[in-house]
Amino acid sequence: METSCRICAGPVKGSVDLGVQPRGNAFPKADDLAGEFFYRLLVGMCDSCAMVQLMADIPQEVRYHDQYPYRASNSTVHSDHFAGVARRLLRTELTGFDPFIVEIGCNDGVMLASIADAGLRHLGVEPSQEVAALAKSKGVRVLSSFFDEETAGEIRAQHGPADVIFGANVIAHISHLDSVLKGAVTLLGPNGVFVFEEPYLGAVVEQTAFDLFYDEHSFVFSVSSIRAAARLFGLELVDAEPLAIHGGSMRYTLAKRGARTPAPAVAELLADERARRLDRHATLEDLSRRAERVREDLTALLRELRADGKRVAGYGAPAKITTVTNYCGIGTDLIPYVCDSTPSKQDRVVAGSHIPVVPPSVFAEDSPDYAVLFAWNHAKEIMAKESGFTGRWIVYVPEVRIL
Ligand code: TYD
Ligand code: ZN
Repeated sequence: METSCRICAGPVKGSVDLGVQPRGNAFPKADDLAGEFFYRLLVGMCDSCAMVQLMADIPQEVRYHDQYPYRASNSTVHSDHFAGVARRLLRTELTGFDPFIVEIGCNDGVMLASIADAGLRHLGVEPSQEVAALAKSKGVRVLSSFFDEETAGEIRAQHGPADVIFGANVIAHISHLDSVLKGAVTLLGPNGVFVFEEPYLGAVVEQTAFDLFYDEHSFVFSVSSIRAAARLFGLELVDAEPLAIHGGSMRYTLAKRGARTPAPAVAELLADERARRLDRHATLEDLSRRAERVREDLTALLRELRADGKRVAGYGAPAKITTVTNYCGIGTDLIPYVCDSTPSKQDRVVAGSHIPVVPPSVFAEDSPDYAVLFAWNHAKEIMAKESGFTGRWIVYVPEVRIL
C-alpha cells in the first residue's frame, strides 16, 4: 500500500503493519462495546522527507472527544518535567517586555500553570473540554479549539505575536501538521520560537517500542524529518535536545528562517541519524520484524504462565496497551485485568482487547504472581511505588524479559 505524505505529498510506503486496531485511548465501558471504531494500523516513511507517519486518516473529532482520558499531571515525573520547562522558558525566551506564550494542547495546565503563576500573558489551546476545565481551575487562560493556520491568525489578531509557541506530546498527534507549521509562521514574532517535544523515532527504533504507534500518533518525528518539514514552510530547525521522558523524546526548536543560528546539536544529531539509517525504509522493516518477535515471545510466556496456574495482571493502561494487546491478540484469558491510577480509565476496558481497568488498590490486594508493565516508560516511578509487590515484573521493551 502507498499513500502520499501529509507534509510534502511524496510517496509513503507501508513498512510496519500492526493489524486492525481500535483507538488507543478509547477505553469504552464494558457494556458499551457495539460502536468500537477499528482501522488498519499501518506505519510508513516518506521517500522524500523521511517523515514516519500513519497511513490511515482518522478524523481528529473522533479522537479528541470531551472525555479524552489522558491527564498530563498524573505522573509526578511528568509534572516536575513541565514545571522545569516553564522555569527554563521564563529564564530564556520570556524575558522581554510583556512576553506572550501560546501552548498547543495545554492538557490540564501542567506547564502553563507555572507561567500563569508568574503573571505572564499566555494562552492554552485545548480542544478537549474536560482537561481544559482542569487547566482553567489552575488559573490558566484556555481557548477551546484545535490549533491550525486559522486559529493562529485569530490569536495573533487578538493578542499580538507570540514569543514562544510550545507543545508537548501533541504536535506529532496533529495530522494537519502542515497547517500547524503555517500557523506557527503566522503567530510567531520575528524572533519567536516554536518549541515542541515529542517521542523520538530513534528511541522507538532502539527500544522496539512499536506500541508508540496508535491512532493519535499521526507522526513519529526525527531530526531529519522535522528539519525537512520546517524548511517547506519557511521555518528552520535551530536546536534539538534529546529527553528521557516518555521513553525517549526529542525537543525541537524552530525559528523563522534566518532568524537564528542553528546550534551545533542539529548537525551532530543529523549525522548520528544518518549513521543509524533512521531515514531508511529498511530501518522500519527491521523494527517490524522485531515487533513480531516480541509478539511471539510475549504470548508464549503468558500462555506458559497460564498453563502453570500463575496469576498474571497488567500494570498501567497507557494508550500503548491498546496497540500491544490488540497486535498480540492478548485478552482477558491471558491478562484478566490491568490497574491504572487514572480515575477516568477505571471501570472501563482496554479498547479491542476488553481487559478491564481497575484501581491500583485492586492490584495491591490481589498481589498476582506476575505483572506485565505496560506503562514501561514510568518503570522507575511505578516500581518504587509498588516496592511491596512480591511477584515479578514482565517487560516487553526492548524485548520480553522477566525482572
Ligand atoms: P503515559 O505513558 O503517560 O501515556 P500514554 O497513554 O500517552 O502512553 O501513561 C501512563 C499510564 O500509566 C497512565 O494511564 C497512568 C498510569 N500510571 C499508573 O497507573 N501509576 C503510576 O504510578 C504512573 C506513573 C502511571
Ligand atoms: Zn514527505
